[in-house]
Amino acid sequence: MNFNIAVFPGDGVGPEIMSEGIKVLEKIGDLTNNKFNLKYGLVGGAALDDSGLPLPRASLDIASSSDAVLFGAVGGPKWDDPLAQHRPEDAILGLRKFLGLFANIRPVKVFNSLLNSSSLKPSVIEGVDIIMIRELTGGLYFAKPKKRWNTSRGRRGVDTLRYTESEIVRALRVGFELASARSKKLASVDKANVLESSRLWREIAIEMSKEYPEVELENMLVDSCAMALIRTPSRFDVMVAENMFGDILTDEAAILAGSLGMLPSASLAGVPKENDKAMGLYEPIHGSAPDIAGQGKANPIATIMSVALMLRYSLGLNEPAVAIEESVNEVLEKGFRTPDIAEAGASDILSTEEMGRRILQTVQIKLG
Ligand code: IPM
Ligand code: MG
Repeated sequence: MNFNIAVFPGDGVGPEIMSEGIKVLEKIGDLTNNKFNLKYGLVGGAALDDSGLPLPRASLDIASSSDAVLFGAVGGPKWDDPLAQHRPEDAILGLRKFLGLFANIRPVKVFNSLLNSSSLKPSVIEGVDIIMIRELTGGLYFAKPKKRWNTSRGRRGVDTLRYTESEIVRALRVGFELASARSKKLASVDKANVLESSRLWREIAIEMSKEYPEVELENMLVDSCAMALIRTPSRFDVMVAENMFGDILTDEAAILAGSLGMLPSASLAGVPKENDKAMGLYEPIHGSAPDIAGQGKANPIATIMSVALMLRYSLGLNEPAVAIEESVNEVLEKGFRTPDIAEAGASDILSTEEMGRRILQTVQIKLG
């Protein structure tokens, strides 16, 4: 098959991690007789420097004519001016809105070989395998009014937490579908003891659970959920939350896995079902890490795992996706590490490129 893939490396470590992800993708193309037509575009600070806009028209055109988007990272001190009219982050927010990417999926799987890299006790995180779903185009991030103004009694600012029924239904549907394909447990996160939008969210979750009698739904308040997530993370399987709660909880969940450098994400414009493809954007959850950019220290695993998610959710190629995930596991089992996941005194520390090559070679053996 032929696929069009938009590639937006962005800023900081973005280009170096992306190049490892692309090498794995191209190798998979050769091994499975698929052709990936890559179209590169500028986003974030790189685009601001080029045209003054973080998400120029040319990049939007590339994205909208593609089957999926691979995104590196954006931002850096050079573009940090709080008074600037445009910020690098506008690129990712703009792509979410433009492509209708309403569901952010972040798997958090703890690798046995990395049990000691987390700041939590190995006994707490052993076996953790969670999929977090975050609503991505509604709530406080986008709803209006959203502004600041001056009054005679001082400055004011407002953001609006508004959700429509259809926005809630489609986000929850991703949760129910993924839960019914896994261990059939769904935790829906809200603040229904205080917020109207959360009471609506919970009401709809309970209604929808009748369509999924096999899925056990647990409605949780966000504050106690945040606590349970680090106290007893292995009790969770699939979780779903609105935009802002999800932003916070997904970063919290990331520490379970030891390093941000391990975690991929998918942002989908449709509900992923078996044999069904959705347009999606795939990115590592770590940022542009300007402090280590260009030094070969960045961990390419999150990006390579994001390529796996793309193969699974947008291209319908599950077998190579599994091959990537197993290869990452094997390379870690053999003791290879990038600096972010290395224990003190470790000897087998690889550069970004060396780690990418190890994983690529393992994928090649599996699919060859
Ligand atoms: C994320 C990030 C973004 C968000 C920022 C960079 C706008 O934190 O993807 O979680 O808040 O959604
Ligand atoms: Mg975040």
